[in-house]
Amino acid sequence: MHAAVFRQHGSTDNIRWEAFPDPECGESDVVLRMHAAALNGFEPMIVFKTTALKTPLPMIVGGDGAGEVVATGSAVTGVSVGDRVSIYPMVPGEGMTGETRLGTCAELHRVPAANVIPIPDGLDYQAAASLPIAYGTALRMMHTRGRVKAGEKVLVLGAAGGVGTACVQLAKAAGAEVIACSSSAWKLERLRELGADHVVDTSTTDFRQWVWDNCGKPRMGQGGGVDMVVNYIGGDTWVDSLKVISPGGRMLVCGATAGYETANDCRYIWTYEISIVGSNGWTREDQAEMLRMAADGRIRPVIHDVRPMRETGAAVQVLADRDFFGKLVLVP
Ligand SMILES: NC(=O)c1ccc[n+]([C@@H]2O[C@H](COP(=O)([O-])OP(=O)(O)OC[C@H]3O[C@@H](n4cnc5c(N)ncnc54)[C@H](OP(=O)(O)O)[C@@H]3O)[C@@H](O)[C@H]2O)c1
Repeated sequence: MHAAVFRQHGSTDNIRWEAFPDPECGESDVVLRMHAAALNGFEPMIVFKTTALKTPLPMIVGGDGAGEVVATGSAVTGVSVGDRVSIYPMVPGEGMTGETRLGTCAELHRVPAANVIPIPDGLDYQAAASLPIAYGTALRMMHTRGRVKAGEKVLVLGAAGGVGTACVQLAKAAGAEVIACSSSAWKLERLRELGADHVVDTSTTDFRQWVWDNCGKPRMGQGGGVDMVVNYIGGDTWVDSLKVISPGGRMLVCGATAGYETANDCRYIWTYEISIVGSNGWTREDQAEMLRMAADGRIRPVIHDVRPMRETGAAVQVLADRDFFGKLVLVP
């Protein structure tokens, strides 16, 4: 088969579409002919090795994917050749797809049968591939951990990415008022089209000042601010996030794209009784629910571009350059 492989870290030029051994199907596995893969914010982190993630090399790029079953192991029941399936990418004993186990930007992909989920009728492979990591993470963060409610004010930092566009849609679907932040005017336009009630250009506007001006400065017993900040940016955004959260509100955290050694001002946490709520991963059932939500139109997978897998390196560079809105999908 062919796959988008990198043999050393450091540059997206190291990602090459090349011949790679076909996967072997173990007795509990299935092999998929891939129809679509999708990229996430962690792909540049893995390729550039900007985090402590340890990736065995050579590695195939890609955490998300969807395909058609072309082989099943002798012990597999309930999954058949010809099934259209989405991959649940966290595999017990093997780790994360595209990080510690071979990724999805390949013509063929082996995965335990327990890690595939049927794609509902009416949902195409590209939409199915775009959902798992970003939309699954957003579902757990907004609902299971964040318990977003109708009428709440929700501010999403970095709203134009995969997790962000999913959070905006889920918060709107729950009846919340959404303030979406991005550093690019064209992405803010798209966020409005997606349903955001307010948009803040963080390249020209201080989001803390915007919230104080438009929602009021938080004061004990007097409200003000927003009920929830969704913050997977980290870096220098934590203190300003704490300063815009209403008394009793919360900050949801599932990552730290701009750095995990965040500054803090813990006075705000006790004074305003703010909760900092971590959220990590999502369940297989979350992923199945997102597939159903997309199939019946309750959410819309936002796909920026669909490219051939031989252009995976260029697509990862687009992610690194932040020149996209939503998801980047790759097809063989
Ligand atoms: N814990 C989990 O299970 C889990 C799962 C999935 C993702 N995550 C984390 O969630 C985060 C988002 O993932 P994603 O796939 O949605 O990523 P993504 O699609 O690459 O997100 C891009 C967004 O992040 C913003 N951004 C990127 N670099 C930035 C920087 N240096 N400073 C400020 N903003 C920056 C961009 O803002 P602009 O629009 O302003 O360019 C853009 O809106 C990542 O940190 C990822 O590791 C965690």
